[in-house]
Amino acid sequence: MLENGKTSRLPNFYKLDISERHEVLNEAVGLTHEERWMLKKEPLNPKQAEMMVENLIGVFGMPLGLAVNFRINEREYLIPMGVEETSVVAAASNAAKIIREGGSLHAESSAPEMIAQICLTGIRDFDAAMARLTGEKASILETADRQDPTLKSLGGGARDIEIRRLPRKGGDMLVVHLIVDVRDAMGANVVNTMAEAVSPSLAILAGGEVLCKIVSNLADRRTARASARVAPLPLESPGIPGAEVARRIALASEFAEIDPYRAATHNKGIMNGIDALMIATGNDWRAVEAGAHSWAARSGSYKPLAVWSVAGDGFLEGRIELPMAVGLIGGVASVHPGVAVTRRILGVSSASELAEVAAALGLVQNLAALRALVTVGIQKGHMELHARNVALSAGALGELALEVADQMIREGRIRFDRAREIIRQVMKGK
Ligand code: MEV
Repeated sequence: MLENGKTSRLPNFYKLDISERHEVLNEAVGLTHEERWMLKKEPLNPKQAEMMVENLIGVFGMPLGLAVNFRINEREYLIPMGVEETSVVAAASNAAKIIREGGSLHAESSAPEMIAQICLTGIRDFDAAMARLTGEKASILETADRQDPTLKSLGGGARDIEIRRLPRKGGDMLVVHLIVDVRDAMGANVVNTMAEAVSPSLAILAGGEVLCKIVSNLADRRTARASARVAPLPLESPGIPGAEVARRIALASEFAEIDPYRAATHNKGIMNGIDALMIATGNDWRAVEAGAHSWAARSGSYKPLAVWSVAGDGFLEGRIELPMAVGLIGGVASVHPGVAVTRRILGVSSASELAEVAAALGLVQNLAALRALVTVGIQKGHMELHARNVALSAGALGELALEVADQMIREGRIRFDRAREIIRQVMKGK
């Protein structure tokens, strides 16, 4: 969140070169000398990377973009996005701008409760096992809490157990869910430690054996929700009035609701935004992906994570909800120096706030995709950015890059050699 009444509305940010963008960013968030330096150079060196994975052979780069124009819960956000796909950052920024022109974007989240599963087999008397486990709930939670006194002191800790019997040929399974409020951590480590600590006594109480104990990525007790209201006028596209665009977006949303083939792509577009934020903030995006898709399929058929409809007053209304197991402490944050910078830019003060921004970003990304799909199509935006990237890589900067890109699009020839030629011609004429 931006402080001191600063705005994330940064017109023409995309037209600047990278060092000019750093200046603007610095004005907005006040980066330290080291943080600015970190953005300029490769933020992770091999020594640091060596602490993260085995058999290290190098550090693999990823573009870091900045989504602008976001106002969520009346707060202004600049959102760092680590993503390799053209158009994603521009689309998010553009849709966020559309929403702020007369609309609104809100987000909220549940308590940060994660689930660890302890799977027990070989149980003969299920009723007795369940009764004993329920009766010993307090001591099970106490054992779990002893594994992380700091979490307890921060107001988190083991909250509850749930017991599920899973029917299976050859003997049912008994699964105990240990529910833990993990506060600002992603939480997999802490709940895994707790599950391992309590499992021997669970096996004794249940009269069975422990098969395995591990976090569940279907973090359905830790969800983030966002909702948007979008005025019809700013949705307009050349030759298509905003009200018609809104109607088509609602129809495209219905398409995703009734067809899993479409729902998969609809959700992929949502995850374009969410994953990019996860990557930029050093979060486990595979965990968030697993949570999102298992949540989307929880009814038994695969559904869209976000849906849209047109309200009585003509506004387009969208909402999204999905599990959001994200953290601000622990994990990569402690070893990846770049993460400290991206988190400073985003300016969130809790994992819940990060989860809310992620859900809002997913919803906005979905709006951008649907609007493009029901109007000009997705390729146009891709081509514009692709042309600009080709122009930039050929050596054009600022306005010149736009001029070169425009000409290549007009000619239908978006190529590095053509970009070089145009640059030469323009420079000669100056
Ligand atoms: C492309 O990465 C994402 C989209 O296909 C999403 C969608 O179709 O909704 C544009």
